[in-house]
Amino acid sequence: MVRFRFAAILCLAGLGCLIATSAPGPQKLTSFDSRANALLAKMTLDEKVGQMTQPDQLYLKSDADIANYYLGSVLSGADSDPKEGNSLEAWANLIDRYQKRSLETRLAIPLLYGVDAVHGHNNILGAVVFPHNIGLGATRNPALIEKIARITALEVRATGINWGFAPCVTVPRDIRWGRTYEGYAEEPDGVKELGAAAVRGLQGAGLADPLSILGCAKHYAGDGGTAYGSSTIGPHLLDRGDTRLDEKTLRQIHLQGYLTTIRAGVGSIMPSYSSWNGLKMSGNKRLLTEVLKEELGFEGFLISDFAAIDELPGDYKHKIAMSINAGMDMVMVPERYQEFIARLKEAAQDGTVPMARIDDAVRRILRVKIAMGLMDQNHGQLADRQLWKQFGSAEHRAVARDAVRQSLVLLKNEHGTLPLSKSAKRIHVGGKSADDMGNQCGGWTISWQGQSGNAMPGGTTILQAIKKAVPKETKVTFALDGKGAAGADAGVVVIGEKPYAETAGDRSDLSLAPEDVAAVDNMKAAGIPVVVILLSGRPMILDKVLDKADAFVAAWLPGTEGDGVADVLFGAYKPTGKLSFSWPRSMAQVGVHRGDPNYNPLFQYGYGLSW
Ligand code: GLC
Repeated sequence: MVRFRFAAILCLAGLGCLIATSAPGPQKLTSFDSRANALLAKMTLDEKVGQMTQPDQLYLKSDADIANYYLGSVLSGADSDPKEGNSLEAWANLIDRYQKRSLETRLAIPLLYGVDAVHGHNNILGAVVFPHNIGLGATRNPALIEKIARITALEVRATGINWGFAPCVTVPRDIRWGRTYEGYAEEPDGVKELGAAAVRGLQGAGLADPLSILGCAKHYAGDGGTAYGSSTIGPHLLDRGDTRLDEKTLRQIHLQGYLTTIRAGVGSIMPSYSSWNGLKMSGNKRLLTEVLKEELGFEGFLISDFAAIDELPGDYKHKIAMSINAGMDMVMVPERYQEFIARLKEAAQDGTVPMARIDDAVRRILRVKIAMGLMDQNHGQLADRQLWKQFGSAEHRAVARDAVRQSLVLLKNEHGTLPLSKSAKRIHVGGKSADDMGNQCGGWTISWQGQSGNAMPGGTTILQAIKKAVPKETKVTFALDGKGAAGADAGVVVIGEKPYAETAGDRSDLSLAPEDVAAVDNMKAAGIPVVVILLSGRPMILDKVLDKADAFVAAWLPGTEGDGVADVLFGAYKPTGKLSFSWPRSMAQVGVHRGDPNYNPLFQYGYGLSW
């Protein structure tokens, strides 16, 4: 009998353990409403409107304006850096300075400070820069993406920043779009779980964790589905264009990442600059309020994109009222914040924007701040400078290196070219991106557009990684143009795109640059095995190089840890990456996807070799 009872206890304990370990979902933000409502009840209209206003710090007339206007949030857009430069200390001092101002206000409601930490804390010198999402999509590894996001959150917190405008859960359907690389995949099944994993990593076990930051799923919805030529900006190609789909298709393709990130507890969502069937998302009440908030139950707040409401019709007051009434809760103004505040107050006073809508927006913002512990004494308001010793650490770089390994997709490997032998006497390296950290990292690195060259310290270029990987007896030579390879045991040519971001990356043609084709030709002319590595934010047209390559690796935009590329080149890691974007044979196939009768890519979605 005793044995049976003991067994029963064990079983119940096990069951209890099972129930306990089935991780509860994130805490519902509405569970903080009693505190949010109590605070809201004390607030004046000025204080409420201030919470809904987000200027860029570049445009603050003075630090005092943070208190003068009761600002709820400030951001650093991609080029909005401390005057003292991009060091860890300069950033932490900047954010602390602003945060202290917010604590001077009557209600001492701390700021949410937002930044585009989209592949690590990418603005800060010495940060670990991870592969952009297109590479992470090729890993198909949610646990890895969660780990990356966790490290990113810690490095962001080291500067006192508490909000990252990530993950981007776009589903890019036309790779001519300049933001393709911000997407995990061209299909929603390649985005859903990775986006949710990123939110779990950024927001941690709970928003109140001082090592968590607020996540922001973006850009809602259909940012990656715009029709070619519908853009209203730049070369008028795709960015910020019009997504022309029926609602069923929009939901099937472009809403899936929001279902999963809302379920993961994402606290903010950023509506897209783009339009759906001719109506700008920033003013789309059906999608912002009826679908996202009412049907899908999103309890956090909506933050506009950078000056996105300016693209709505009518005068400024009309733009503001249209967006807020559609469901926008906070506006990334980012420049004319005094005018924004004056016009929104007018709209509230004359009823153009009902006070109930203002209160709903502020309640949502306050819920998140309370959930983050920002209203509790000294909870994470200022930069945790103890974290500086982990910033850019070897441990963080090791995770980034593993992400690079897992993101590489082997498209071709003939005659056992890869892995390269470490007993080679000479390996000749060429190509414009072999020794260029900027090309390795891509856009959103140090600056908005990124830049070729070696502005980001602390990482390893692919050339440096190859030199580290080979024994001292092996000679590694380098020529940008690929010449001088004769007599080498193998040649490695690293080619691709120079950095860009957003509209600047829209292209009508995805052919390789002439200097890239020439570098491959020069290497090939030496009559040795040639490995081509492509660093790009999307698939490109390979008709001029693929036949000349004995092996071909798509490395996307790997970030600072070039060692991960050498790990695959020399066989320390067998390639596991699989394409999360179909690889078109020619420009005629761009935008053609699985299920389309004309689907006939050079390499299919999900393709990837190993050995
Ligand atoms: C940009 C981007 C958005 C970013 C925001 C703040 O224009 O569209 O992804 O988060 O502005 O920099």
